[in-house]
This record gives sequence, C-alpha cells and structure tokens, in this order.
Amino acid sequence: MTEAATIADAAVAALLAQLGADLVRTGDAIDPRFHHDWADYPATRPKALVLPRTTEDVSAALRICHAHRQGVVTQGGLTGLAGGAHPGPDDVALSLSRMVGIEEVDASSATLTALAGTPLEQLHQAAEAAGFTCGIDLGARGSCTIGGNVATNAGGINVLRYGMTRQNVRGLEVVLADGTVVRSLNKLIKNNTGYDWPQLFIGAEGTLGVVTRVVLALHPPVRSRQTALCAIRDFDAALAILRFLEQEIPGRLLAFEAMWPDFYRFATRTAGISAPLPGDAPLYLLVETSLPDQESLEAPLAVLLERGLLHDAVLAKSEEERRKLWAIREVPAEYARHFRGGSVKFDVGIPLGHMGEAVGTLRDLIDRNWPEATAVFYGHVADSNLHLVLGRLDGAVLPQHEIEDAVYGIVSRFEGSVSAEHGIGRSKKAYLPLSRSPEELGLMRLIKGAIDPLGLLNPGKVL
Ligand code: FAD
Ligand code: MLT
Ligand code: ZN
Repeated sequence: MTEAATIADAAVAALLAQLGADLVRTGDAIDPRFHHDWADYPATRPKALVLPRTTEDVSAALRICHAHRQGVVTQGGLTGLAGGAHPGPDDVALSLSRMVGIEEVDASSATLTALAGTPLEQLHQAAEAAGFTCGIDLGARGSCTIGGNVATNAGGINVLRYGMTRQNVRGLEVVLADGTVVRSLNKLIKNNTGYDWPQLFIGAEGTLGVVTRVVLALHPPVRSRQTALCAIRDFDAALAILRFLEQEIPGRLLAFEAMWPDFYRFATRTAGISAPLPGDAPLYLLVETSLPDQESLEAPLAVLLERGLLHDAVLAKSEEERRKLWAIREVPAEYARHFRGGSVKFDVGIPLGHMGEAVGTLRDLIDRNWPEATAVFYGHVADSNLHLVLGRLDGAVLPQHEIEDAVYGIVSRFEGSVSAEHGIGRSKKAYLPLSRSPEELGLMRLIKGAIDPLGLLNPGKVL
C-alpha cells in the first residue's frame, strides 16, 4: 500500500468515527456523479466523500483531514472545465451539494447572501423576485454553484456589463485547511480595512480554502431584453459594431458573443438547433441588450446595415424566440453527446486587435494537422475571450497534448492568456508558465504556502 493510501485509510476512519455515516460516504455508497467533473478525465472514485450540511461540518471535516495530513478536493456543481474538482483515488472529496439556500436578500444594501452550494439559477430567481438582477450568468447556470463560480472567478455572458465574479462579490465565509472559519459577510461598497482577503480566495480554484457563504452585490432589474442574431463580414466588423453599440446605447449592452461559421454549423446542423440565418456568413454575433423595445434595437442595427458592417440580422420577437437564439450559443452543453471520444477545449485570452488574425492562424494549423477534427471557434469576444473546441464526430480520440502544445504556442505568440475564465485546475497546469512569469509563480507559491502550508487543499491543482 502507498503512503498516501495508508494516510487516507486512517483519515477516513477518523472522519467516519467523528462525523458519522450520514456525512461521510465510502466505497459504493459514493454516487458515481462525484467521480468526475466536466473535464474529460476518467472517472475516479475518491477514498471518501464528505457531505457537510453546515460550515461547522466543513470545519470539523477539514480539522480531521489536517490532523492526518489528508488531501481534500472541494466539489461544487462539478461543471468545471479544467478538472479542478476531479478527485484522485486517495483524496477525500468534500461536496457542498447539501449547503444550498438563499439566506437573505437585503434590498437596502442590494446584496444577496447564499450558501456556497446554491445553484446559480436559484440566485437569479431570488434576485429577480426581489426586483434585482444577478450580474453573473453562464450556460451552466442550472448546475454550477455560487461557491464554484467564486472559486473559479467565473466569467460568462454578461461580463462586459457586470464584470467577472470577482467584481460581484462583497463578502465571503471560508474555511481554511486547518478548519479555521474566517468570515467577512461584508455588504459595504467601501471597506478599506486592511487587506481585502476575500479577493485572494476568488479564482483560487479551491487551493486556499473552502468557500461556504457568499455575499453578492445585486444590480438594478433588467426589465426587457432585446436580442439579435447578426451575420457579419469579419472580425474587424465585429469590433466596429461593438464600439458603435457602446457609443450609441451606452450601458445597455449585456452580451456580445461571436460564433464563427464552424460553430454555427455545428449547432444548427450537427446538433440540429433551428437556424434562423443561413450558415454561410463569415461570422455571427449574438447581441443582447437591455433596451426597452424592439424598435430601439432595430434603429442602431439599421445604421450598421447601411454602413455595410452588418449583412443580415434576426431579432427575437418573444421570450421563446430569444431562448431559441441562445440555444445556438449554448450548444457546448451538447459536446459530450457528439464528441464521444472526448474533446480538446481551449478558453484563451487574445488581445482584441489580434483576435481575427489569431483565429485564422489557428484554423490553418488545425486544417493542416488534424483535418479529421471538427473544430469550433466562438467566445465572449468583448472580453477578449476566445473558446476553441476540437472533437471527432466518429468517436475517435484526438492527440490532446500535441494539439495543446501547438495551440498554446500560437496563443503565446499573440501575447494571450492560457485561461480567460475556466481556470487552470489540473488540465492547464503545465501551461501556466506561458502566461505567468517565474516571479509571479513564486509569489503564488508563497501565498499557497502561507495559507495552506501542508498543501492539503486541491492537491496537485493550479500550481
Ligand atoms: P466545480 O466544477 O464543482 O469546481 C470548480 C473548481 O472550484 C474546482 O477547483 C473546485 O475545487 C472549486 N470549488 C468548487 N466549489 C468550491 C467551494 N465552495 N469552495 C472552494 N472551492 C470550490 N465558466 C465560465 O467562466 N464561463 C462560462 O461561460 C461557462 N460556461 C459553461 C457552460 C457549460 C455548459 C459548462 C459545463 C461549464 C461552463 N463553465 C463556464 C465552467 C463552469 O461552469 C464554471 O467554472 C463554474 O464556475 C464552476 O462551478 P461549479 O460549482 O460547477 O464548480
Ligand atoms: C461557454 O462560453 O460556452 C463556455 O465557457 C463553455 C465552453 O466553452 O465549453
Ligand atoms: Zn465561456
């Protein structure tokens, strides 16, 4: 037996003895859904699964693991795409799936306080019911948790309007590796009292502590959403349209999503989602605004048509039509069904001035080397965020590392980032030095060493 396995057996025995079988599952009693996240790693059963109901349960579990020097992998909704929540065979997995609930919507502070395991969609419903809007939104909203959003500093479709998750967090409660509970359920906009420590835990991907409660800032309600699917000439036109809309309808742009024709055709032909525009345009945009009525979106689009920046556009005339347009953009949820051999996923940042050229360079690279792959390009381009996913429709497996080396090489050449929003987790660890200097990595190790000196939280992830 390995040393890790011996440690794990002792830790699991202590967890069971002190917390009981309701909170601690082992062997076949661990539901297979906790064996993996959305990254394509083979399912792995952790040594034990802890299902805390309260912050005190989380604290007790971490205290026991700390005493045994046992590694712990925190799991939220398991929709992460970087393998951060994927457990190893000797890890204890700690799932927040029972810590669900909105604790408060404070209308005077415009804040919402929730337990970390609450699905993002429940936060949306609670915010809307109280006359507000939640600023964080992404395709996985039904399954991802607010704790996971905080841990990954999730981006998504409304970043150009409300910022990343980081910009939406006012306060946090976290449990450190030794079980210490640190709480700042701050609702104040201004609070310059020393280090803003909650920010350290946002985007740390569970390597510094377990997030148990979140205070989010809410935004004024969006009373109407006007949405259009546009067919355009090229990426330069997309940038011109973005800057024009920012000037013409300031503060009203909620989403600005680009879809290259390979993505549009995958969604509308392979995945069979209805196609409101033909599939032969060089680039598609899905634009969503908070304008009050259809006419107020038609007006700027008419100017863009006149200027030749826009070739064609379809406006959603009802909520149902709006949902149908978004169904095209949300096809990534279907990849696993069509790419049965798995997919190679990228979530890169590219300076906007080079985005069009970078997509062309990447497309040439793929066509030359992996012509049998279906490769789809899309992204939250107003945030300089490009997604690229490669898979094979015949179920064959692609040479992942070879493709990653080549793609990240090109991303570095354009001075991009190896992760814009999904994080490093397990899958991008080897490529982190392409985006961070040795000094930055050294500082990150210092922080990790100070807060989790035994390296017990999410071992082997990020650094
Ligand atoms: P998990 O997958 O469970 O965990 C993710 C990471 O956070 C792991 O490292 C885990 O250890 C850690 N973690 C989870 N909960 C906690 C906690 N309470 N305390 C400490 N650490 C924790 N991401 C985007 O940024 N933008 C998108 O547009 C987007 N769209 C997506 C669409 C689909 C269809 C899918 C499947 C995923 C998408 N994602 C997107 C990725 C994913 O949804 C986000 O990263 C999300 O924030 C993860 O939340 P989760 O609760 O599922 O976390
Ligand atoms: C998205 O924007 O759809 C996501 O980040 C998910 C993905 O690209 O797979
Ligand atoms: Zn995304």
